[in-house]
Amino acid sequence: MNQNPKAVYFDGIAWKWDSWENQAALGIKLAAGLEELGVGDSETVLDIGCGTGNLTRALLARLSAAGRIVAIDISPQMIELARGKISDPRVEWQVMDARSLPWTDGSFDRVICYSVWPHFDDHAAVANELGRVLKPGGRLHVWHLAGRKFINEIHASAGEAVRHDILPPVGETAALLTQFGFQVTTAVEDEEHYLVTGVKQVR
Ligand SMILES: C[S@@+](CC[C@H](N)C(=O)[O-])C[C@H]1O[C@@H](n2cnc3c(N)ncnc32)[C@H](O)[C@@H]1O
Repeated sequence: MNQNPKAVYFDGIAWKWDSWENQAALGIKLAAGLEELGVGDSETVLDIGCGTGNLTRALLARLSAAGRIVAIDISPQMIELARGKISDPRVEWQVMDARSLPWTDGSFDRVICYSVWPHFDDHAAVANELGRVLKPGGRLHVWHLAGRKFINEIHASAGEAVRHDILPPVGETAALLTQFGFQVTTAVEDEEHYLVTGVKQVR
């Protein structure tokens, strides 16, 4: 039985997740965003909190046969739905917490936390772990296609498990990534976007 309250919460809403946003419009926005992030076609990308696989699908469209995605989520229901939607040998799906990952140091070219950062209970522990699995020079993105105020208001009125999940100002996220060995190259937010990008430095 899954006792993590956030996993239970997201399991409970997984079946309706894709109905909350126009999927075609989201796909277009994600594709444009990935172009801006400069995702290369043969990268190995870690998609954290992949949910039903919407970012995963947009990533697949950018990658060649040499590219690879590992998509993880704490919610077994989200992963099951994602697997049902997307069948592609370049993707590996895993039910897993971002805080503790099984891969060796330097396994990934890029880590994307799309619409998941507020849900981490210990941002420092996650930043440390994501820095560990990134190659030197690899990129970590903390990314949302919505503004911080809007996101925090949604969480405040959502279920108890996520009610206190806050997306901090970009300056705070940038400072944390710097503390964990990243050089922050982008830290921008407005009413519809939030992006902090850190490049892993050689330690
Ligand atoms: C707001 S949803 C976003 C899903 C997906 N990124 C999207 O935008 O469609 C957040 C997802 O992150 C997952 N999640 C929350 N905390 C996590 C953690 N510590 N490790 C991995 N996944 C997590 C949840 O189960 C949920 O599926």
